[in-house]
Amino acid sequence: MTTSDSLFRKYNVPGPRYTSYPTVPYWTDSPTESQWIDCISESLIEGRRQGVGAALYIHIPFCESLCTYCGCNTRITRNRSVSRPYVESLLKEWALYRSRLGSDIKISEIHLGGGTPTFLAVDDLKLLVEGILGPVQVSEKAEFSLEADPRVTSREQLAVLSQLGFRRLSLGIQDFDPKVQEVVHRIQSKEQVGEVTEIARALGYSSINYDLIYGLPFQTQRSIRDTIDVVRGLMPDRIAFYGYAHVPWIKPSQRRFTEADLPSGDEKRALYELGRSLLEEVGYAEVGMDHFALAQDSLWQAYEQGSLHRNFMGYTPRFVTPLIALGVSAIGDSGTAFAQNEKLVETYQSRVDQGEIPIQRGHLLTSEDRVLRRHILNLMTKMETSWESRELQSRHLDLALEKLTELQRDGLVDLTPYSCKVTQQGRPFMRNVCMAFDARLAERTPDSQLFSKTI
Ligand SMILES: C[S@@+](CC[C@H](N)C(=O)[O-])C[C@H]1O[C@@H](n2cnc3c(N)ncnc32)[C@H](O)[C@@H]1O
Ligand code: SF4
Repeated sequence: MTTSDSLFRKYNVPGPRYTSYPTVPYWTDSPTESQWIDCISESLIEGRRQGVGAALYIHIPFCESLCTYCGCNTRITRNRSVSRPYVESLLKEWALYRSRLGSDIKISEIHLGGGTPTFLAVDDLKLLVEGILGPVQVSEKAEFSLEADPRVTSREQLAVLSQLGFRRLSLGIQDFDPKVQEVVHRIQSKEQVGEVTEIARALGYSSINYDLIYGLPFQTQRSIRDTIDVVRGLMPDRIAFYGYAHVPWIKPSQRRFTEADLPSGDEKRALYELGRSLLEEVGYAEVGMDHFALAQDSLWQAYEQGSLHRNFMGYTPRFVTPLIALGVSAIGDSGTAFAQNEKLVETYQSRVDQGEIPIQRGHLLTSEDRVLRRHILNLMTKMETSWESRELQSRHLDLALEKLTELQRDGLVDLTPYSCKVTQQGRPFMRNVCMAFDARLAERTPDSQLFSKTI
């Protein structure tokens, strides 16, 4: 066994992905609706002071069919009549926010995520985006993006969104191997993906992302090579190369294959290493955890300039605040609090109909949460963090340093009494480094498995 194999074995433990800190299972103190609105108002003022507007995340949960690996919040249906009432609920929710916040809202980013936003018909997409933007201001350099499934995305949908200002498109690809596609119940051809990519480029989409996953059932080095060969032919600007998160106790559809069908920890890591080296060969650079970008892309430039930011939507090139989230299960972030909406479509819609912001759970951050969140964000976006200045200190950092000493012995981080830097060798262990800063995890080890494994 090589040293790196033994490190992967040692550190391959369940752990969060840190799209938020504290992570969702550790949220304790949910804001009331009026506390949440106060937090968002303060964040809008802070944003204005820094010359940035708000980001809007809009969740469309619908998908036509279920991909068995999927960990997202979805509603599988072929019944198109659900779309219009859902769009109406989103617009009502947006009106509730505006009536409470006042009309002085400037939008810097919109992201349509899901599920599958292109499940919505052309007219519904238009109604949605026009209804969102009509009553508010939009900043000059606003960026609008959407996630789309190439199997259900038409030229007309992309054209209408392009006319409304969308320039970023993220396509779900995952893997092109027929055997893998069959077991994950997602059959899509290279030609289909190539066609949607070409159409989007011709319509003016200037940044295209592909989502790939390593660690899927029956995936081999061969399938990673074949998949990246297709990528090489189409050269999207960005790539999210996600480790498959296996959480069958939360997502029972992941039981449609068995664990014996999954690549083992070492094999899974080898798939990532292979993918990374093939992507680097063609000109992509690793930006933060699991993400790659071409040198001309704003994500890579932001990484180089130290302005990269990360939130529930993944990595973004700049800091914007607050993140207002609309739709079922969507999570908003004011910087000082998180709030997640109801997860069931019917409950979400009925609460919106009653005139309530449909918060199901959330968390008001303590001052320690905010400091530790800053360190975790620094690590995820800059590969290093330091706490020489008083406002970045916290009583947990002594314990963090103790935990990090072992990672230093293994060559994964460089430490001083006031800083931590992830080494090149340590990059695959980013989640483990962040775990040392997680005071909530240190206080209460979960009694049952909550998180997927870190590697
Ligand atoms: C909302 S989907 C993207 C849009 C569209 N629904 C599609 O699949 O084409 C978000 C992405 O999350 C990733 N994903 C979903 N489940 C995952 C899992 N269990 N582990 C890792 N990545 C996952 C996939 O790469 C997927 O493309
Ligand atoms: S991967 Fe995308 S299309 Fe498949 S079930 Fe998940 S959200 Fe829907």
